[in-house]
Amino acid sequence: MEQAIETHQLCRRFGDVLAVDHLDLTVEPGIFYGFLGTNGAGKSTTIKMLTGLLSPTAGQIQVLGYNMLDAKESLEAKRSIGVIPENLALFDNLTSRDYLTFVGRIHGLERLVIRQRSMELMDLLDLDYQSRTITLEFSHGMRKKLSLAAALLHNPKLLFLDEPFEGVDAVASKVIRDLLEQFIAKGGTVFLTSHILEIVQRLCTHVGIITKGTLVLSEKIQSLTHNGSLEAAFMRAVGGENNEISNKLDWLTT
Ligand SMILES: Nc1ncnc2c1ncn2[C@@H]1O[C@H](COP(=O)(O)OP(=O)(O)OP(=O)(O)O)[C@@H](O)[C@H]1O
Ligand SMILES: [Mg+2]
Repeated sequence: MEQAIETHQLCRRFGDVLAVDHLDLTVEPGIFYGFLGTNGAGKSTTIKMLTGLLSPTAGQIQVLGYNMLDAKESLEAKRSIGVIPENLALFDNLTSRDYLTFVGRIHGLERLVIRQRSMELMDLLDLDYQSRTITLEFSHGMRKKLSLAAALLHNPKLLFLDEPFEGVDAVASKVIRDLLEQFIAKGGTVFLTSHILEIVQRLCTHVGIITKGTLVLSEKIQSLTHNGSLEAAFMRAVGGENNEISNKLDWLTT
């Protein structure tokens, strides 16, 4: 079976830091994969390499069967993936409607299709299709929601979402969760990073945990949560249970 994502010995170095360290990752099609790790563990760096936004220092990447290190094949893969990157790279001086039109045209969609899909997505995410406000003036959550709309516009098979729930309001969070569940039910694949473990536990079918650039586990969610919460399993995997607050900061509010 062709995997949705497959990496072999993937590495990325920044100066002295090996941000991603010989990563062998396999994500089957149709699964909802939560890619977890503490701050600085290497999640965003991995997503950037998987989506062609950053070159690896070493290793191989296949996405939907395409070799991401080959310019032509990577372009083919990009037709079928949607991305919310870490730095929401929107064009600051466009309205959301103009931005989605631009993204849709890049994907070769008809103007009418772009208009219909944009209206539907923006309505669902509570963004104003008629608004003349440019994205520079958007709140953080609004930028994130627009970025999701842009990631979905061309009907991708595989979504890479770097912190999609961070900064979005509770109503939008519910809409996004429902939307992603529907996406999976219809055969899509999601690769997501999030620090909100309750959401990960509710949505994801599989979880991978990365520490200092190394994948320390990659399993079905049931095998991690059968005798406790995902939070407890995460703490065990990253060694966070030793970081007790008692006897520390005793100067605070005394
Ligand atoms: N452009 C860069 N230049 C130098 N170092 C970088 C760069 N991007 C990331 N790093 C380093 O690589 C490591 C991994 O960073 P990365 O952003 O992938 O972590 P992350 O798991 O996404 O963390 P977070 O949960 O905080 O988003 C960190 O040590 C970070 O300082
Ligand atoms: Mg990150």
